[in-house]
Amino acid sequence: MASSTLISDTQPWKELKAHVDEIKKTHLRDLLGDVKRCESMAVEFDGILLDYSRQQATLETVNKLFKLAEAASLKQKINSMYNGEHINSTENRSVLHVALRAPRDAVIHSDGKNVVPEVWKVLDKIQEFSERVRSGSWVGATGKALKDVVAVGIGGSFLGPLFVHTALQTDPEAIESARGRQLRFLANVDPIDVARNITGLNPETTLVVVVSKTFTTAETMLNARTLREWISSSLGLSAVAKHMVAVSTNLTLVEKFGIDPNNAFAFWDWVGGRYSVCSAVGVLPLSLQYGFSVTEKFLKGASSIDQHTRSEPFERNIPVLLGLFSIWNVSFLGYPARAILPYSQALEKLAPHIQQVSMESNGKGVSIDGVPLPFEAGEIDFGEPGTNGQHSFYQLIHQGRIIPCDFIGVVKSQQPVYLKGEVVSNHDELMSNFFAQSDALANGKTPKELQNENVAPHLIPHKTFSGNRPSLSLLLPSLNAYNIGQLLAIYEHRVAVEGFIWGINSFDQWGVELGKSLASQVRKQLNASRTKGEPVEGFNFSTSRMLKRYLKASAD
Ligand code: F6P
Repeated sequence: MASSTLISDTQPWKELKAHVDEIKKTHLRDLLGDVKRCESMAVEFDGILLDYSRQQATLETVNKLFKLAEAASLKQKINSMYNGEHINSTENRSVLHVALRAPRDAVIHSDGKNVVPEVWKVLDKIQEFSERVRSGSWVGATGKALKDVVAVGIGGSFLGPLFVHTALQTDPEAIESARGRQLRFLANVDPIDVARNITGLNPETTLVVVVSKTFTTAETMLNARTLREWISSSLGLSAVAKHMVAVSTNLTLVEKFGIDPNNAFAFWDWVGGRYSVCSAVGVLPLSLQYGFSVTEKFLKGASSIDQHTRSEPFERNIPVLLGLFSIWNVSFLGYPARAILPYSQALEKLAPHIQQVSMESNGKGVSIDGVPLPFEAGEIDFGEPGTNGQHSFYQLIHQGRIIPCDFIGVVKSQQPVYLKGEVVSNHDELMSNFFAQSDALANGKTPKELQNENVAPHLIPHKTFSGNRPSLSLLLPSLNAYNIGQLLAIYEHRVAVEGFIWGINSFDQWGVELGKSLASQVRKQLNASRTKGEPVEGFNFSTSRMLKRYLKASAD
């Protein structure tokens, strides 16, 4: 396919469009009865099982999707990413988060240079620093050990680390290594978030890690200044050197802010913000909390999926299969949303993280060549852990709109609970729901079945489940640092696969700029009005009215 050709102009796309009518005639209840089909709709890799037999698809659909992948040059695009080509063309950058978790002896080039030694230089520095802090050999300004960490950052400099931290919090190995320590995240510029995060902390025993790729993000810089003030007002300005460190690609601005460059942990412009959790962005706070060895296991899990994604044939390639089914659901079956439903409370921050990874990456309106897309790209991601979600929004998923679901289950709980005399453990109870929900969605319940159960006729329409609602199931062996790394990388690569097929640039985010620059105009106005009494000017009627009201009411 020529680079300027849209994927929707290719023959495989047209064939899939034509195939939709055939699929609409099938029902998942029947498709699930076809054992031969179901046998081939599962893949296992490194302890993880993906079952995609509950997709509204036949083996013919799958073949057609592979043809689409070929038409999109998916294999070449994946290779281009791993080879460090500047696939983020609008920012003229490589996309090499895979290098962040590559083994020490791997060779990965960006602009003719092997980046792996640089990655490991920073990892070694993190290991050394985190061990000093954890052992108490690095102390604060008053000689006390630093047992609490506040990581200040937003977006990709926050959501990935928060996801991993939340997932590790109940892992027995991580609990052991985090004993007596706290890790908190300050993201929102809302003063309430500041208050919540410093309440109960003592500056004398707190280390602040300022995390910002650009070191210009307004919210992060304001929060960083606030915490610098919090430290220096009680310990003096010189304490900043002992109590504040930074993670950034912009070491010049780090120094300008007043953080010792020796206490800065670098990463590189070939790491996108939302793909940065495996850089110092995540590795530093997580190593401070859990120790480097736990964090390294997380990197190894992600690396295992990186190798799988690059080399496994598409038929057995988990992220590729997931990506292709996303395309099928969004672009052909017309389902724009996806629910991420982990049956593990430890994964409660998976959906918020994937929202950014997926929606900031693939929420685009033009092709990588700037041509307006004649189809919708991107997915609306949301989710909650089961079973909580079941008591919240599952009603809509079962009887309202069709929303393809990702069910994520874990074989062995991080914290098993067995009550005396109960045969089914709490975890079995949780997992019973994991197994049941996907079948309920797929099979539904017919009026005939309800009649046979003597349901009152007037209730039959209300109690009918149309079924035929697609989902896929991922079963993880357990939820330790390694598995968390695997899960993260599966989602990252799935999103990239989708973008490669849609023919968009999944690695820029120009869509976040307009709001930022308008906010800066408002900020200037607020300043000018408050300090010099200047009138509100240059906004439309509605915004002016709200601004005037805000200024007046907040001055009262
Ligand atoms: O506003 C979006 C964004 O640019 C994200 O892409 C990024 O993860 C986040 O802001 C934070 O940026 P930084 O790490 O540069 O502070």
